[in-house]
Amino acid sequence: MTQENIESILTEDRIFAPSEAFRSKARINNRADYDALRARAEKDHEGFWAELAKSEIDWHKPFTKTLDSSRAPHFSWFTDGELNISYNCIDRHLKDKGDKTAIIFEGEKGDTRRITYKELHKNVCQFANALKAKGIKKGDRVVIYMPMVPEAAVAMHACARIGAVHSVVFGGFSAESLKDRIEDAGARALITADGGTRGGKVVPLKAACDEALGKGCKTIETVFVLKRAGNDVAMKNGRDIWWSDATKGQAETCEPEWVNSEHPLFLLYTSGSTGKPKGIQHSTGGYLLGTIVTMNWVFDIQENDIYWCTADVGWITGHSYVAYGPLAVGGTALMYEGAPVIPDAGRFWKICQDHKVTIFYTAPTAIRALMKAGDDYPNKYDLSSIRLLGTVGEPINPEAWIWYHEVIGKERCPIVDTWWQTETGANVIAPVPGAVDTKPGSCTIPLPGMAVDVVDDAGNSISTPDRGGYLVIRKPWPFMLRTIWGDDQRYIDTYWGKFNNRYYVAGDSCRRDKDGYFWIMGRIDDVLNVSGHRLGTMEVESALVAHERVAEAAVVGRPDDIKGEAIFAFVVIRGPRPQGSEADKLTKELRDWVAKEIGPIAKPDDIRYADNLPKTRSGKIMRRLLRTIAKGEEITQDISTLENEDIVKQLQGEM
Ligand code: WTA
Repeated sequence: MTQENIESILTEDRIFAPSEAFRSKARINNRADYDALRARAEKDHEGFWAELAKSEIDWHKPFTKTLDSSRAPHFSWFTDGELNISYNCIDRHLKDKGDKTAIIFEGEKGDTRRITYKELHKNVCQFANALKAKGIKKGDRVVIYMPMVPEAAVAMHACARIGAVHSVVFGGFSAESLKDRIEDAGARALITADGGTRGGKVVPLKAACDEALGKGCKTIETVFVLKRAGNDVAMKNGRDIWWSDATKGQAETCEPEWVNSEHPLFLLYTSGSTGKPKGIQHSTGGYLLGTIVTMNWVFDIQENDIYWCTADVGWITGHSYVAYGPLAVGGTALMYEGAPVIPDAGRFWKICQDHKVTIFYTAPTAIRALMKAGDDYPNKYDLSSIRLLGTVGEPINPEAWIWYHEVIGKERCPIVDTWWQTETGANVIAPVPGAVDTKPGSCTIPLPGMAVDVVDDAGNSISTPDRGGYLVIRKPWPFMLRTIWGDDQRYIDTYWGKFNNRYYVAGDSCRRDKDGYFWIMGRIDDVLNVSGHRLGTMEVESALVAHERVAEAAVVGRPDDIKGEAIFAFVVIRGPRPQGSEADKLTKELRDWVAKEIGPIAKPDDIRYADNLPKTRSGKIMRRLLRTIAKGEEITQDISTLENEDIVKQLQGEM
């Protein structure tokens, strides 16, 4: 489908400037300084990144070459430098901050722990030595399938410390998905736990591992098992070992393995719209730099901040903004094990209050769910410690943005809407909060050194405001993915093929407004073509959600003989799901509403109600599934990662 002239129908004119109180303490606190920084990056792209890499990273052996493009579109950064990321995240803080809390942990049941940098160092070294004792060495792949507990981060750093390549598989994935990822990576070891606690239930992780290993995974020699939930598990002799036994008696120090800057730090599997999951491969030096600069620029992290990113370590956000970024800058990161609604929808706000969280970073889907639960929950807690809010993962609709701003941020806190991807490694388009005014629903402008553009089908930059196109990145950046594990060709085809290797193609559609602000319109796959009008699904969704009775909406296209595509909306309303004539009445009202909000062209042809939308465990709406349902086709795809399988029947109109 051509992306030219994707019509933009969403207009949001409100602008929010950071408060004086926020600006007075922010590290970059005015637009002129910030523009100067961006201009410097533009003038000397390599020099800009080289300077930062030198000042922000402790190199064991300094690099002399910044960027190697000889294998483009495979790029290498800081190519002859040597470093260790666990050293940079832990050891280098020991002298000045050894007793500072590195990780604050809260379990779903309310148990808490605080781990200092010194303790973290010891735990990581002992577990690194345990890995070595089982023969794991530099370059070996290790799969981590853990609950959201500090040991997950310890395991990641222990791998990094000895140069092993970790691949974290989210604990909500099925045994089948785990098996596929282990086999694709050819992992030698698996690190897991007996179980984790989520939603008041034990998630039997070890049992899933046994099932996966029973089906294949011949490369796995050792399974390390952390005791967490206390559920019964089977241990296989000669293969399985308890974490506590493996670390017993291990030395409390472990010399870091100094690796080349390009040494793969991790693989993280991400699903595309088709085909098997892609093992996104990241580097060591460039990736580390991305997490550091964005912690400084976007999150404005400072010495006394308590930083809470709610993402699970199974996702890229949990890598960059839980396990690595906050530690790389010597910060304090909070980790929470459980669900946001245990015991009730006030849990996040209680945690913010109890641990005096100052920076809070979550996903729009969580914000909408908590908004739906009502203001009484956040209003019960003291949220005055919070100074900065963030969102990531999907476009945030202006209504949820305003709620976040007013009810959580009390109109005091800037909101950083951060656009990025597993592939980009760290934030790419996001406001620097003391310098860039925000607009609800826009991720604002690209960070320094990020050559982001919006281009038409022919690859020409679009200068007309509000005309949608492909989001691309014109120049390589240090924290970009290096390849797809074991499949260089797929890397080239997926990210570079569209425009003849000229740009990195993100797969999102986007428009720029008259002020140069970026508005993500959704994945390219999510663009509708209704009677020759190309509409971003997100804009129709936003209009629906603006109706007072609608809590959440997802819109997909269904082939239509006359219009090309008809609009099919799946809607969750506040309160009980409407049925029968009540549903018909509401459908008419919503169709008229959208017609009024956007125009008759965007009127949904079908609306179906459900108690919830089908989401992956990371909160992404499963659009491919919704498309299948909208077409009335049989579901053949894997829905094992679905939070609630019953809603599929509702969505199919059978319940
Ligand atoms: C979407 C998550 C709008 C986008 C870090 C992207 C967003 C995909 C935003 C990557 C945002 C992420 N506004 N859309 N602030 N952040 N996305 O790999 O479609 O899980 O391509 O990485 O999420 O998802 P991923």
